[in-house]
Parts: sequence; structure tokens; C-alpha cells
Amino acid sequence: MKITSAEFVISNSDIHKCPEPKIPEFAFIGRSNVGKSSLINMLCERKGLAKTSSTPGKTQLINHFIINDSIYFVDLPGYGYAKVSQKERQKWEQFTLHYLKTRPNLLYTFVLIDSRIKAQKSDLEFMEWLGTNRIPFVMLFTKIDKLSSSQLQKNMAAYQNEMLKVWAELPIRILTSSVSGIGKNEIFVVIENTNKLFKM
Ligand code: GTP
Ligand code: MG
Repeated sequence: MKITSAEFVISNSDIHKCPEPKIPEFAFIGRSNVGKSSLINMLCERKGLAKTSSTPGKTQLINHFIINDSIYFVDLPGYGYAKVSQKERQKWEQFTLHYLKTRPNLLYTFVLIDSRIKAQKSDLEFMEWLGTNRIPFVMLFTKIDKLSSSQLQKNMAAYQNEMLKVWAELPIRILTSSVSGIGKNEIFVVIENTNKLFKM
């Protein structure tokens, strides 16, 4: 897969105002500041496409981008430690979860996890929620450029052990860095293979 065009379409908090669900869609979610918007920009090779920030809580709406005129990428607000009021956060959580549960053309959700830190309760609980609601997801470990390969191996092994306490089978896991571009091809393979099924 090669991305030849990537355009912002619409931002909103009302799932009824999302674009018509006529083409495959892939969403990016994870704790605030984990690197969702940066990863979308890396995949599209467009630095300013999705707004990024070093301050958590930058993305506050459901943002649709159209890729190659044939698929949607969706940048979602982060959960976790955003510096916003609890009320505000509950509002995003509500519309984001509603979106994930009801969007008919959503083929995969990419759950971004910070590779540098140990498994967080909010991530584990969120993935369990996805499992309970039968929403297919792939785990993307982010910011691996910030770790030595031995530290990365150690962290991945620890994460795997944590997941195996709950999951009989582990989801697909991909290591990524928006700085080096690592992980891009593997993500594209997931997207391509899933799209093929959508067309069948
Ligand atoms: P919210 O929209 O606030 O939920 O955040 P987000 O998950 O979209 O994160 P964003 O892409 O805005 O990135 C947060 C910070 O992490 C920024 O300062 C990025 O430059 C940095 N960052 C993101 N990805 C990487 C990466 O792969 N490597 C490194 N070193 N830094 C990264
Ligand atoms: Mg963001």
C-alpha cells in the first residue's frame, strides 16, 4: 500500500455527523499523548495533517481523514491523564465509545500503547472493553525510538505476560516509531488484508 493522498474531512462529537460509512475505516485510540496524531502523520507522510502537541489532551473530537480516496483514518481523543475537567473527559469518553460500538464500517481499531512504561490499568481495561464488545483491535506500541533494544524486549515480554493473565490469545502487536517510521509497513499489511475481506 502506498498513500498518495490524505485529506482532513471533518471533526465532530456527534457520530451522526460523521461521513457516510461507505468505505472501510480504521481508528486510532490510546491514552493522551501516546502518539496517535503523530502516527497518522507518519503513515501519511504529512507532518501537519493531524494536530499534535506535547501537552496531553490535544485531540478532543472524532477526526476523519480520507486516504487515497478509498479509506478513512480516524484520530480519536485520548483517554487517561488529559488535563481537562472530569466532566469534559466523560463527555469525550461517551461519544468515543459510542462511535466505536456503532460505526458500521470500522474494520479495525488501533490501540496505541506507550512502549516505555509498564502496562497501565486504563489501557488494559480499555482493551477488555473492546473484547467484550467484540470490536477487533491491533496493539501498536509507540515511541520505540526512545528505548534500547534490550529495554524494548524486556518491556514487551512483561506486557505479554500481563495480557496473558486475561487473554487466551494475544492480538496482533506492532512496534512503531513516528520518528523513524518503523512499523509503517506492518500497519499497511493489516489494513490491506482487512480491506480485502471487506470487498469479498
Ligand atoms: P492527544 O491528542 O493529546 O491524545 O495526544 P496524541 O496521542 O495524539 O499524541 P501526539 O501525536 O500529539 O504526540 C504527543 C507527543 O509525543 C508529541 O510531543 C510528539 O512529538 C511525541 N511523539 C509522538 N510519537 C512519537 C514517537 O514515535 N517518538 C518520539 N520520540 N516522540 C513521539
Ligand atoms: Mg492527538
